[in-house]
Amino acid sequence: MTLQGHAHATAISAISALLIGMNAGAQPRPDELFQALGGREGIARLSADVVPRLFADPRIKHFFKDANAKNLVEQLSDQLCAASGGPCTYEGGAMKAVHADMAIKAGDFNAVVEDLQAAMDAAQIPFATQNRLLALLAPMHRDIVKR
Ligand code: HEM
Repeated sequence: MTLQGHAHATAISAISALLIGMNAGAQPRPDELFQALGGREGIARLSADVVPRLFADPRIKHFFKDANAKNLVEQLSDQLCAASGGPCTYEGGAMKAVHADMAIKAGDFNAVVEDLQAAMDAAQIPFATQNRLLALLAPMHRDIVKR
């Protein structure tokens, strides 16, 4: 290798090391949101907190009168874990099929979102993390809400 080539290679490896160190320009880790939510345990706790809020919310509690709280906590936990990049598989029903006969309106969906926000506030999940999770759930609106 020429002297010039060697200097060049050294500069490149210095820059690479710097970029790796800063994680600059790299994709966020695929499980970053999962980790920010507290991993499996954090998400399980969050799900266990939000489901009773749904069952108690006077705006929407009628939807849940025959629902199985334990199953819902487990399914939601797996779903949020998988959606946030965690090592889980959601094995429940597709959102469209599950909610098909419920005649859920936009206001009902918003109530669920607000209850989830309240649970995330209670868990002291930072606002930016909350918004990232909500952004993943927002597209489900079209499968869940009947207009
Ligand atoms: C982003 C919004 C929502 C998500 C991520 C979500 C997620 C889920 C999941 C994972 C299940 C369990 C499916 C299964 O067991 O196979 C479920 C069931 C259910 N969801 Fe939703 N849901 C959402 C919105 C809503 C809304 C707006 C309502 C009504 C206000 C609702 C009412 C129900 C009911 C009643 C069940 C059935 C529970 C049971 O029979 O045990 N969901 N949902």
